[in-house]
Amino acid sequence: DWTMEHVVEMEVEKIRNQVGDRKVLCALSGGVDSSVVAALIHKAIGDQLTCIFVDHGLLRKNEADDVMRFLGDGFNMNIIKIDAKERFMSKLEGVSDPEKKRKIIGNEFIYVFDDEAEKLKDIDFLAQGTLYTDVIESGTETAQTIKSHHNVGGLPEDMEFELIEPLNTLFKDEVRELGLELGVPEHIVWRQPFPGPGLAIRVLGEVTEEKLEIVRESDAILREEIKNAGLERDIWQYFTALPGMRSVGVMGDERTYDYTIGIRAVTSIDGMTSDWARIPWDVLEKISTRIVNECDHINRVVYDVTSKPPATIEWE
Ligand code: XMP
Repeated sequence: DWTMEHVVEMEVEKIRNQVGDRKVLCALSGGVDSSVVAALIHKAIGDQLTCIFVDHGLLRKNEADDVMRFLGDGFNMNIIKIDAKERFMSKLEGVSDPEKKRKIIGNEFIYVFDDEAEKLKDIDFLAQGTLYTDVIESGTETAQTIKSHHNVGGLPEDMEFELIEPLNTLFKDEVRELGLELGVPEHIVWRQPFPGPGLAIRVLGEVTEEKLEIVRESDAILREEIKNAGLERDIWQYFTALPGMRSVGVMGDERTYDYTIGIRAVTSIDGMTSDWARIPWDVLEKISTRIVNECDHINRVVYDVTSKPPATIEWE
């Protein structure tokens, strides 16, 4: 019968047959697909798998630690974590155009990954979290960027990887089930979609450390309250974005002139179209109060009530 336990057994067998005693490299993003791929391949071949996790400094609060704790320690997986924050920040300095920011981050990601991959010896396979739907249309995850890039020759000439894509016959819900069967923590398996360029496209315009911190902290509060309200699975994506606009406020006897933060929360089936989520007002109130009280430099909170189209889900 077609139980997930069975699927795991079959996939493990297939991977062992394909890989033999050779070695596999996997790019971990912390997303569902790359995490499940890594967990699956690790189950099949253990230490013959090496993962590279590029921390570009644009992840959400605690996200990098989470990957290392739950996948690295939890699975006893061999993960090389690259702290590339400085590299990304210096490349982003002075850049405010959204598409330029995306391009810089995408390219830098490949450079960092390649630099590290080149140091490893005897790698024969590159694992990809390609899903069945990615096979049909182009996906949105970081792994996809690597794939399309590497397919057009982004790797150094002397590095020839064979692709291994164990999820490419599965749909997202099946990947989640597979992940749970493999023991991937529920919060990773049900993680909301997160763009490759990360918080850099949620700080509108030029990215600075101060602005990243404001987005990161406000986003953490939003996520915590959405979770407390039990709304996590009902909302496709929820995050904060910093437009870089300031307005006047008052705190105690003091006039303030500080940033406005936007809350974006949408329902969607596939991200192609979306509607703004009808979060209960008391939940919004709690989020708003906590954000202005707990985050420095925010004196106003607004809620985005546009659907896609005409707006996009992200603000950049
Ligand atoms: P938009 O903002 O276009 O987003 O309505 C649709 C979905 O795609 C995600 N997104 C991205 N994902 N790199 C990614 O990997 C990107 O540059 C990017 N831009 C948007 C967005 O979070 C949403 O899930």
